Amino acid sequence: MKAAIIGTTGYTGQLLLRLLDNHSDVTEIIPVSSSKPGESLFDSCRGVDSSLIRKLGATNGKFVSVDEAERMSPDVVFAALPHLKSAEVCGGFFDKSVVIDLSADFRIKDEAKFFQSYNQAPPRPDLLQKAVYGLCEIYKEEIKSADLIANPGCYPTCTSLPLIPILKKFHLAGPVVVNALSGISGAGKKASMDLIFSERTENCNAYLPGKLHRHTNEIIQNLEGSLADVDLFFTPHLVPLKRGMFVSTFIQLTQEISSADIQSILTDAYADQPFVRLVGEKVPETYDVRCSNRIDIGWKVFGNSLYLFSAIDNLVKGASGQAVQNMNIRFGLEETAGLSLHGNV
Ligand SMILES: NC(=O)c1ccc[n+]([C@@H]2O[C@H](COP(=O)([O-])OP(=O)(O)OC[C@H]3O[C@@H](n4cnc5c(N)ncnc54)[C@H](OP(=O)(O)O)[C@@H]3O)[C@@H](O)[C@H]2O)c1
Repeated sequence: MKAAIIGTTGYTGQLLLRLLDNHSDVTEIIPVSSSKPGESLFDSCRGVDSSLIRKLGATNGKFVSVDEAERMSPDVVFAALPHLKSAEVCGGFFDKSVVIDLSADFRIKDEAKFFQSYNQAPPRPDLLQKAVYGLCEIYKEEIKSADLIANPGCYPTCTSLPLIPILKKFHLAGPVVVNALSGISGAGKKASMDLIFSERTENCNAYLPGKLHRHTNEIIQNLEGSLADVDLFFTPHLVPLKRGMFVSTFIQLTQEISSADIQSILTDAYADQPFVRLVGEKVPETYDVRCSNRIDIGWKVFGNSLYLFSAIDNLVKGASGQAVQNMNIRFGLEETAGLSLHGNV
């Protein structure tokens, strides 16, 4: 199988390069870069071993332009590009290759809500309804025949997976309160004063609290798919980790519940899902899922109050790993192919 990565030099593009190198069904990788076409991949991708050349086919180890990549007819295209750029740059691949878009350009179906989140109309409204939201554990059947997959955001993945099965069974008695912590790589590879080491190390803060963050509408869309009427208070925080995401969610239900109820609901929902691990009343930790495509989910119950805790690696299950999982599902491959189930030491 031939796979193109657009935006190869970014964090998620770099990780895709490594995941696809380890994927036995991917025989050829086309590395696309708008900033470095014609330059040697090995000069800019410092950590990549020269053995990757065996998968770089006709590119001969050089970055190619988007136009050149189109002429190489990839089976699958991973768009690892900024929001509001991706749909435009990928224009020539739609209807020719399966496109897995890591940006938000196709995630929110409602055009007004998209505008509210991104302060701009969706770049390709004609494709919004065609795009399948690639939250693998929830939309697996739809992904199997999708030609355009909107890979979910890291915050929406980590927040939605624990909540969706619960909201299908119980009614909310109040708002959904989410506090989410993200490692710095979640912001991408850009030079920004806020993101330099001396500003971020030994430092932590909330940003865009309440209903301001652009992922709020994406999360609400996911939760309302569970037939709940959701009032969401989502507060992201930046913490001094390179990678990792931790989410604490608090909800109150209209009835008393037990820890065994939650265990049973989440087990029913996820028993056959290789990348979901239920840790019960233990609180999961980002270290345990580091570099893996797993989400770990824990909980605590107090009467009708429920805390849900979830941890992922923002770059893997929150981005490139879930994108490869989507490819595996779409092409009928082993769902775990090329992906790690284990956290790194
Ligand atoms: N980082 C995460 O944890 C994470 C999690 C979930 C989703 N995402 C989403 O995944 C996408 C990629 O994220 P990232 O963290 O990899 O970002 P990044 O590190 O900033 O890399 C993005 C890459 O896109 C290309 N690019 C940048 N501006 C461009 C433009 N104007 N036109 C065309 N290409 C441009 C560049 O690669 P070339 O110069 O090589 O073309 C750049 O290296 C984003 O939409 C992001 O929101 C990221």
